[in-house]
Amino acid sequence: MAIQEGKVVIIGAGMVGSQTLSAVLREAVVNEIVLIDMNKEKAQGEVLDASHTTAFAYSSNVNIHTGDYSECKDAHIIVMSAGPSITKGNTMDRSLLLNKNIAVMHDVMTNITKYTKEAIIIVISNPLDALVYYGQHAFDYPRHKMIGTGTLLDTARLRKIIGETCGVDSKNVHGYVLGEHGESAFVTWSDVNIAGIPFEDLNTTFQTKLVKEEIYNEMRSVGFDILQLKGYTNVGVSAACARIIKCIVLNEKSVLPISNVPDGEYGLHDVALSLPCIVGSQGIERILEIPLTIAERACLERSTAKLKEENSKIEA
Ligand code: 2OP
Repeated sequence: MAIQEGKVVIIGAGMVGSQTLSAVLREAVVNEIVLIDMNKEKAQGEVLDASHTTAFAYSSNVNIHTGDYSECKDAHIIVMSAGPSITKGNTMDRSLLLNKNIAVMHDVMTNITKYTKEAIIIVISNPLDALVYYGQHAFDYPRHKMIGTGTLLDTARLRKIIGETCGVDSKNVHGYVLGEHGESAFVTWSDVNIAGIPFEDLNTTFQTKLVKEEIYNEMRSVGFDILQLKGYTNVGVSAACARIIKCIVLNEKSVLPISNVPDGEYGLHDVALSLPCIVGSQGIERILEIPLTIAERACLERSTAKLKEENSKIEA
């Protein structure tokens, strides 16, 4: 697929879906974006508003419009951003949305699979890993084409915290947050580095006072802070989704920590969670098995157990 030939369908025109529309438009790598929502007027309004950015964008010939599920039949990528999100006043416990959003996912997947099993689906709605698992498992969807933004967002938050503290571009902070996009996410501290300088040496090099536990807590609680301040989170996760889309459309083969159902990698089956994945035009091309310390492996096992327990609560 060459630049400017891709078609993205976004399902859900709420705060996340409409922000994703903007983020994908800004990336300027596809030539058609369709927004679908039960509330057709809302979708139309978002599309009309977004269409006024094309004169300012790098590419002005993007066809942005609303539609129905039949638009999925020739879509390259479908974004699932429908269903309720956690909002102000709630805790950051994404699991509270489990059965409501499994019902939404069931509906969305039933409609999508009437038209395609070829498109790469990117799930943003929460609880993200349970929705990815359900979509892949219940609809026998190709494993490498059922993706969730997962801990790509948590990883971006981690990189921002460390980069800002050290006075270095966060793009030069390496390392991952893996596992659940939620309470049991964990940092692979053994591979966190800036230009090859391991985490343990960052304080000496940059004269900082980085403390693992503090960084971890900030990385995990920052979503909750945003929730209390503005009522929802949408910008970071939409940028993460647009990053995955760009990676697919440009066949980048970048390594991104995103959610999917492994096929025995790390000894894991029957669960969706974020692992470092090589992403290209076909979706996930390979799950990379990176070296983990004994402590990190224990964190992976804990996250897996938590997610499997959550999956067992899904009402079929
Ligand atoms: C976030 O972490 C709510 O999952 C969303 O921003």
